[in-house]
Amino acid sequence: MTTSKLTFMPMQANDLEQVNAVEQGSAEHPWRAAHFVDSLDSGYICETARIDNLVVGHSVMMTAASEASILILTVDKQHQRQGIGRQLLQHMIDLASKTDCETALLEVRRSNHRAFNLYLSEGFSEIGIRKNYYPVGNGWEDAIVMAMELKTFSFNPANPPPTIGKTTRKNRPGNG
Ligand SMILES: CC(C)(COP(=O)(O)OP(=O)(O)OC[C@H]1O[C@@H](n2cnc3c(N)ncnc32)[C@H](O)[C@@H]1OP(=O)(O)O)[C@@H](O)C(=O)NCCC(=O)NCCS
Repeated sequence: MTTSKLTFMPMQANDLEQVNAVEQGSAEHPWRAAHFVDSLDSGYICETARIDNLVVGHSVMMTAASEASILILTVDKQHQRQGIGRQLLQHMIDLASKTDCETALLEVRRSNHRAFNLYLSEGFSEIGIRKNYYPVGNGWEDAIVMAMELKTFSFNPANPPPTIGKTTRKNRPGNG
């Protein structure tokens, strides 16, 4: 298990060579280098997972309109199946929880059972299918859309919602 020395750091422009090497060597359908440059330029949340300062994984997340979309999550092939993907995903969810976003979203290829299992086991659920969304070989492959609530309703007894308790003319919500 190599995860004891695992650290997370924001991705910097000078990490891009390592990030791109991990991406090209590990993902079946890799992002191009330009996608990472665009993500940094756009101010997306771009993170690296490192062991002894060596990049062993990366993830990019975009936040908009109360949704945090995890756009990519990759672990270096030599370091897969050691718990790094799970810790990196948890790190991204943690960062998303610190924003105003209420929901984390992602899409995964129907054939990507490894990633699907990981997302499911971390609390994401399937909320839809984008038919024929990704190119594959000579055809197309469905995307499974998955979501996870980041904020849950917390009950404040000093300020209960209007449906709780006996409604009278005096405490009835609204302008009546
Ligand atoms: C998907 C990916 C990020 C998982 O990273 P990882 O570090 O290997 O994952 P972990 O070791 O943390 O495993 C977490 C869970 O993922 C699932 N998983 C990982 N590898 C798996 C495999 N070979 N077969 C089945 N499930 C697998 C399991 O649910 C696993 O939990 P478990 O070990 O308790 O069974 C990694 O395989 C990867 O980078 N793949 C290529 C890029 C990619 O497909 N990214 C996702 C795009 S949506």
